[in-house]
Amino acid sequence: MNLEELEALKSESLEAVKAAADAAALEAVRVKYLGRSGTVTAVMKSLKDVPPAERPAFGKAANALRQAVEAAIAERQAALASEETASGPAFDYTMPGRWSESGSLHPLSMVVKEVARIFSRIGFTVADGPDIETKFNNFTALNTAPHHPSMDQSDTLWITDDLLLRTQTSPVQIRAMLARKPPVRIICPGRTYRRDTMDATHSANFHQIEGLYVDTKPVSLADLKATLAYFAREMMGEGIGVRFRPHFFPFTEPSVEVDFTCHVCGGKGCRVCKQSGWIEVAGAGMVDPRVYRHVGYDPEKVWGYAFGFGVERIAMIKYGVPDIRYFYENDLRFLKQFR
Ligand code: PHE
Repeated sequence: MNLEELEALKSESLEAVKAAADAAALEAVRVKYLGRSGTVTAVMKSLKDVPPAERPAFGKAANALRQAVEAAIAERQAALASEETASGPAFDYTMPGRWSESGSLHPLSMVVKEVARIFSRIGFTVADGPDIETKFNNFTALNTAPHHPSMDQSDTLWITDDLLLRTQTSPVQIRAMLARKPPVRIICPGRTYRRDTMDATHSANFHQIEGLYVDTKPVSLADLKATLAYFAREMMGEGIGVRFRPHFFPFTEPSVEVDFTCHVCGGKGCRVCKQSGWIEVAGAGMVDPRVYRHVGYDPEKVWGYAFGFGVERIAMIKYGVPDIRYFYENDLRFLKQFR
């Protein structure tokens, strides 16, 4: 092979590289010229047979040929790769998409968020308290008589003589009033614990939302009623019925239990509401003067009400859930319905 033929081989091979339409074609071109029995490789091998006088010039030209082909191939390879990612066949728009599952809030969290939003619109802020409480905050300051049966081992989960798993969110009332002067307007969502046997409507570890409003101007039972009626409509819709029944709590006087119309029968009476047409959702009342004394407020100078909702109860009514146990089982078939 002479220098002219070398030149011809160079333009032929560079043309072939340019013409390669995809990675596979380019690989074929590489094998044809630079492969073990490729034409350019053959030229390199033939160097030793070139007469010594011509060898330097021929060798130089042969090396230049090989380098030119290698560089052209590398360049073409890069061009093909970027073409493919930009627009090429690597992306098939007709393929079904890859579905990534997105998580969602637990229905109980959804209820807590919604309740907080509704009360925030009328000036309530969210307060917090620990699950492990003192006997003072959970019972004594809430005016629970020293030997009240709710304190018994069979109802309350005690940790020490003085510490317990809170049986209600009401101790957060005490914390809030000890920490600041009135007006106090808070709600407190949280876990509560009772030594209860699990059934369709009871759990040993459920959730409450406590509410407390104390001010230095008169606050009445009518204010409490209006607030809870507002809440019921916002949470459940215009059609919801609300009723107050006289009750007793050590920390409120007078005290009431609050019922919403039954979600299952709409008030006609069914098995879920034991034919009454109503479901109990909260306890409430006017804060007892003795509670004010425990937190250092002057009972002659402050007025207020408190209420405590069961979160599960509200969720059951709002979403028509027939059994409280669904909330704790983490069955995705149940949870996905709230996405
Ligand atoms: N803590 C009461 C209960 O668990 C509910 C309640 C809260 C009642 C606030 C009155 C005022 O049953």
